[in-house]
Amino acid sequence: MDTIKLKDLTFKPYISKEEIATAVKNVAARINKDLADKNPLFLCVLNGAFVFAADLFREINIPDAEISFIRMKSYIGTHSTGEVHMISGLHEDISGRTVVIIEDIVDSGFTLIQLKEKLQECNPADIKVATLLFKPESLKYDVNIDYVALDIPPAFIVGYGLDYDELGRNLKDIYTIVQD
Ligand code: IMP
Ligand code: MG
Repeated sequence: MDTIKLKDLTFKPYISKEEIATAVKNVAARINKDLADKNPLFLCVLNGAFVFAADLFREINIPDAEISFIRMKSYIGTHSTGEVHMISGLHEDISGRTVVIIEDIVDSGFTLIQLKEKLQECNPADIKVATLLFKPESLKYDVNIDYVALDIPPAFIVGYGLDYDELGRNLKDIYTIVQD
């Protein structure tokens, strides 16, 4: 596989689609075991988690599993609002239910902690978190993550749903930035 260019940046292959598929199956197997007797609502955080959610959810064999989608935005224009907005919200009643947040990546943990706080207001029985990628060295907030497919160092990555300025989401493998 070759390097790719997205706008002004160059990226090189980092995690292959085969490696991703294995990691996704491992996470699904753990969730299938832990939540077998529940009626869990998987909550895919758009945009980045859409590819992971599609693959993960098809590996879930819990008969009463459901999926829904929310959209979060922490930046408006080029400025961080310092607050995460749910720009397309939750339509399901989650009170008393087990919710499984599906995230693409946890970096500082800010998005996740804000989302968990918002969901908590709706009185769910439990909130679990499944993330494709986790950058443990970047974590700044004390937030519990139940299921991590892959731990990575703090470099910027794209592919498999993750973007650089909205580009690269369609890449089947994950690429990391080439520093020059
Ligand atoms: P956090 O709120 O700092 O944990 O950042 C989470 C959000 O930042 C993710 O949902 C992504 O949208 C974005 N993000 C963080 N790291 C990367 C990366 O390496 N590539 C692409 N997007 C990223
Ligand atoms: Mg995201």
